[in-house]
Amino acid sequence: MKLLVTGGAGFIGSNFIRYMYQKYPDYLIINLDSLSYAGNLENLRDIVEQDQKKDKRYTFVKGDIADSKLVNTIVEQGVDGIVNFAAESHVDRSIDNSRIFIETNILGAQVLLDAGLRHNVSRFIQISTDEVYGSLGPTGLFSETTPLAPNSPYSASKAGADLLTRSYFETFGLSTIITRCSNNYGPYQFPEKLIPLFITNALEDTQLPLYGDGLNVRDWIFVEDHCTAIDKVLHHGRPGEVYNIGGNCEKTNKEITMTLLQQLDKPQSLINYVKDRPGHDRRYAIDCSKLCTELGWSQQYDFQQGMQRTVTWYLENKPWWQRIKTGEYLDFYKRWYEER
Ligand code: NAD
Ligand code: DAU
Repeated sequence: MKLLVTGGAGFIGSNFIRYMYQKYPDYLIINLDSLSYAGNLENLRDIVEQDQKKDKRYTFVKGDIADSKLVNTIVEQGVDGIVNFAAESHVDRSIDNSRIFIETNILGAQVLLDAGLRHNVSRFIQISTDEVYGSLGPTGLFSETTPLAPNSPYSASKAGADLLTRSYFETFGLSTIITRCSNNYGPYQFPEKLIPLFITNALEDTQLPLYGDGLNVRDWIFVEDHCTAIDKVLHHGRPGEVYNIGGNCEKTNKEITMTLLQQLDKPQSLINYVKDRPGHDRRYAIDCSKLCTELGWSQQYDFQQGMQRTVTWYLENKPWWQRIKTGEYLDFYKRWYEER
C-alpha cells in the first residue's frame, strides 16, 4: 500500500508514521508537511535513519496541502490512501487569528479531496476532532450522531472540512471516512498544549497558567491508541462513516495539573489561575462504542501508563522541547500569557 500522510511532521502524524512504518514493512509512506511552527523533522529522525540504511520506503515532501499543483503531482504518481492530519491545531491561536485555519483546515482539505477523486484514491481518512460537537453539560457523551456545534474558529474550520469530506462521499462516491478523536497526549507533542506545556514549565520551575476555574473536562487518550484506531479505520472502516475515538478517561484540567506536579515532585505554588479562554468548552467525553464493536478496537494504555511514558519522554528529551521553547513559540506564548 502507498500512503500519503499529511502533517506527518507534527505530533500525531509523526507518531502515526512511526507506527505504520514499523507495523507494515511493505508499505510506502509519503509525508507531505509544510513545516509550520508545529512541524518538526526531528520527530521522525529515527525513521529517516532506519529508512536510509535499508528500506527506502519513506519520502518527505515539504509543501502546503492547499497547493493543488504539488498535491496532484504527488497523488497522480499512484497513491492508495490519503490520511489527512495536516492542520492548524491550536484553539488559542485560532482565537488570535483564524485566517490560516480556514486556509489549511478547509481549503487544504478541499485540495486533497479533489486530488483523491481525480486520481482514484481508494481511501481518504479525514482526521477530525471531538471539538466539532461543541460542549457537553455535566452528563452525556458525544456519539457520531451528535449534531455539529463548534465553538472556536479552530473547531469551526474542522467541522467545515468534515462537511466537505462528507459531500465528496455523497456527491462523488469518494471513499471517505472521518475520525473524531478526543484530546491526545504523548511524546513529540508541541509544548503549547496543556500537558506538554505544563510538564515543561514545571521542569523549568515556571508558572502553569490554568484557565478559569480549572474544572473544564477533557477525555484523554495516549497518542499510540489514537494511531491504532486510525489503522483499524483505514483498513476496515466503512466508507462514508464517522468513527469517534476516545480514551474513556475524563479529567478536569486541575486533576491533570495535580497529577503532573506529583509525578515531577514540584509544588502546587506553580499553579497560576489566569483569565479563561473565550468560548471555552466546558466538557468533552466520547462514546467510541461504534469503533470498538464494529472494528474491534480497544485501547492499550490507561491514563497512568500513558502519563508515565509521556513524562519520562519529556524528561529524556529536554533538548527537543528546549529548542522549541526558546524559539518563535516562546514569543507567542509570552504575548498570550501577558494578555491574561
Ligand atoms: P500539530 O499541530 O502537532 O501538527 C500539525 C502538522 O500539520 C504540523 O506538522 C504542521 O507543519 C502541518 N501543517 C500545518 N499546516 C499545513 C499545511 N498547510 N500543509 C501541510 N502541512 C501543514 O497537530 P496534531 O496535534 O498532531 O494534530 C493532527 C491532526 O489531528 C489535526 O488535524 C488535528 O485537528 C487532529 N486532532 C488533534 C487532537 C489533539 O489532541 N492534538 C485530537 C483530535 C484530532
Ligand atoms: O479535543 C481534541 C482537541 O484537543 C484537538 O482537536 C485540538 O487540536 C487540541 O489542541 C486539543 O484542544 P484543547 O483546546 O482541548 O487542548 P489544549 O491542550 O489547548 O487545552 C486543554 C484544556 O486545558 C482546555 O480546557 C484548556 C486548558 N488549558 C490549556 C492551556 C494551553 C489551560 O488551562 N491552560 C493552558 O495554558
